[in-house]
Amino acid sequence: MTADLPVGIHDLALRTSSLVLTHAELAQHTGADVVKYHEGIGQRSMSVPTADEDIVTMAADAAAPIIELHGTDRIRTLLFATETSIDQSKAAGVYVHSLLDFPPYVRVVELKQACYGATAALQFATALVHQDPAQQVLVLASDVARYDLDSPGEATQGAAAAAMLVSADPAILAINTPSGLFTQDVMDFWRPNYRSTAVVDGKKSLYAYLQALDGAWKDYQAHGGLPLDEIHTVCYHQPFTRMAFKAHQHLLGETGTQADAAAVDHAIAPTTGYNEIIGNSYTASTYLALAALLEADDTLDGQTVGLFSYGSGSVAEFFTGQVAPGYQAALRTDDHRSVVDRRRPLDYDTYRQLRMAPTHTNGAHHTLPHHAQGAFRLAALRDHQRIYEAVP
Ligand code: HMG
Repeated sequence: MTADLPVGIHDLALRTSSLVLTHAELAQHTGADVVKYHEGIGQRSMSVPTADEDIVTMAADAAAPIIELHGTDRIRTLLFATETSIDQSKAAGVYVHSLLDFPPYVRVVELKQACYGATAALQFATALVHQDPAQQVLVLASDVARYDLDSPGEATQGAAAAAMLVSADPAILAINTPSGLFTQDVMDFWRPNYRSTAVVDGKKSLYAYLQALDGAWKDYQAHGGLPLDEIHTVCYHQPFTRMAFKAHQHLLGETGTQADAAAVDHAIAPTTGYNEIIGNSYTASTYLALAALLEADDTLDGQTVGLFSYGSGSVAEFFTGQVAPGYQAALRTDDHRSVVDRRRPLDYDTYRQLRMAPTHTNGAHHTLPHHAQGAFRLAALRDHQRIYEAVP
């Protein structure tokens, strides 16, 4: 069922960080069989930020080409979803508002619920545009996934941002109703305020993800959702890409649909292109899957695509979108490939040094050397403030 007025994603831009560590390099030092990484979890490389990159620089970088094309005139709301907050009080989006020269007449707020936050932001944005179709909303999803060194989660790290302009009559994807919702208080993955890395019970998290998929799907059906065979494919949250294949197999089983591994591969592989080389980008991950799918297949006009968003803790949502006719012209495929390709390879020792570098939390003046490749960087820390700059 689609509301009368189509509202959804009008423009979608991705950015990732400037460094990359391959799983082949990681395997040489962890002693793991590289086939475990490549096949077992479905990951080939992970993006790693430089010291002068963070959620703000990646998000501003992702949003910049959207603002360049569409301007800020109609954007009355900027929603920033993240679980890698840089401040307990100030919304990261306010820095982006400043870096991109927005006018003051905008509401800016940060949203958090693990990897689910961006989907909440997208749904809130859709509701705001339904309320006033002349308005647009900028949704930013930006995260750095960081686990303890030498832990099982280390191979599932990553970093990226997705920027989405939400408007009426969208050029890429109209968001449909209903949504299937599911919330359950579970300690599968969390990050207390005093930690920079997540605490995770890996096996429990896999189970919690699939339970949430069941719950969200049941609720989607209870609210009149489409049968699975009317949905072209599903863009799942991808903490590692093998999870999406497992999830789809699971959902097919739950719905009594017969499908062999080849059919699951055929449905899901087109959604994994970015996540398998970028790694987990938490809130951005589902939207990297969507971009990968649309960029891999130019025959999706009018098709219904499913999206499953899971945030540990946990909150999940299953919903669908209708691919806009002519969406191919609105995609930023070459731009996305170039930001992925320009990442500088890291050797393992340099990666470890970067991870163990001091974090400068005493408020003293600290200038950061320029390593970021994007349009914005964190130039300094001064008086407990983060000083960002546009790269000249
Ligand atoms: P692990 O102990 O390193 O790996 O943990 P494993 O022993 O379970 O092996 C992984 C897979 O590789 C298995 O496949 C093995 O069989 C296979 P499966 O049996 O599950 O199909 N394997 C091999 N395959 C080929 N050749 C080999 C080989 N060896 C093993 N030689 C785990 C893996 C994912 C648990 C770990 O990386 C982890 O803890 N990751 C972080 C948590 C996570 O990603 N959870 C996902 C669900 S929760 C979620 O999605 C939310 C999240 O994004 C956070 C948020 O919401 O904010 C994480």
